[in-house]
Amino acid sequence: MYPLIRNRRLRTSEAIRSLVRETILTPSDFLVPLFVVEGKGVKEEIASMPNYFRLSLDTLEKEVKELWSMGLCSVLLFVKVPDKLKDNKGTEALNAAGLMQRAIKTVKNACPDMLVMTDVALDPYSSFGHDGIVANGQILNDESAELLAEMSISHAQAGADFVAPSDMMDGRILTIREALEDEGFINTGIMSYSAKYASAFYGPFRDALDSAPVDQENVPKNKSTYQMDYANRFEAIRETQMDIEEGADIVMVKPGLCYLDIVREIKNEVDVPVAVYQVSGEYAMLKAAAEKGWLDHDAVMIEQLMAIKRAGANIIASYFAKDAVKLM
Ligand code: PBG
Repeated sequence: MYPLIRNRRLRTSEAIRSLVRETILTPSDFLVPLFVVEGKGVKEEIASMPNYFRLSLDTLEKEVKELWSMGLCSVLLFVKVPDKLKDNKGTEALNAAGLMQRAIKTVKNACPDMLVMTDVALDPYSSFGHDGIVANGQILNDESAELLAEMSISHAQAGADFVAPSDMMDGRILTIREALEDEGFINTGIMSYSAKYASAFYGPFRDALDSAPVDQENVPKNKSTYQMDYANRFEAIRETQMDIEEGADIVMVKPGLCYLDIVREIKNEVDVPVAVYQVSGEYAMLKAAAEKGWLDHDAVMIEQLMAIKRAGANIIASYFAKDAVKLM
């Protein structure tokens, strides 16, 4: 007795394996996060994110041209704001000549067809390191959402194609959508961080932007009153459906690897594009293991990215985008 069906027939050579491969990564899968700082000629490596850099506007220009030449056509901008410009109500976030607003223009001048998405949350601008306004040991929801809508308008005025609210306030997608419509920005899209978990994997990102919650009396020590509890699954679907009803064009699950069950469930539930953010801690873990010689960097990187896409991601925000595209 022999097996009539031998699955191994489809694995006998690279040619047949590639013929039947179900998932393929391409440069257009990627959204490239970029960290922008003030200064000139700055390209500082982030200590907990080897080979990833904070860029000043002039080096940002070089970087986006390089990305464009590699087929990487979408960026997600973050700014590192000097401490002296931080307060509790994101005053600097609304500055038409602020770093984010100038960064948007820099990218659009360098590569007019590059898709520019911007992070919308207060944390880089907040003296308390929170995504919303802090009052009496709490994060104010509706007041923060109003501010995020003003911030979104400011980014749209500077030329952003999409705003990406990463704050997890309730109702902010509707508030932002209505504000954009009122101001005539009918084609400015919203990529909502809809299922964003309160994750310890954001550590290196907070180093990159110096944006961690401060340890101070009457300031929440973490983001658990607005980011989701990672024990929860149904809640992710509810959050995502609500954001779509409120006007999100793209939804997102974050972090990536530990949350691929959520990605698949959401992909099965919704009919808008689903983005996945492979976050800073995921990047740092692999870089560290590879530095030690414990993991094969490129092989594990591709395996992880492929897993994210296989789980249902239409868009992958990843610090590995350039490394991955070089292997394609
Ligand atoms: C801020 C924001 C965070 C990330 C993206 N936007 C950090 C946080 O919520 O504390 C994390 C990205 C990463 O870790 O790579 N609202």
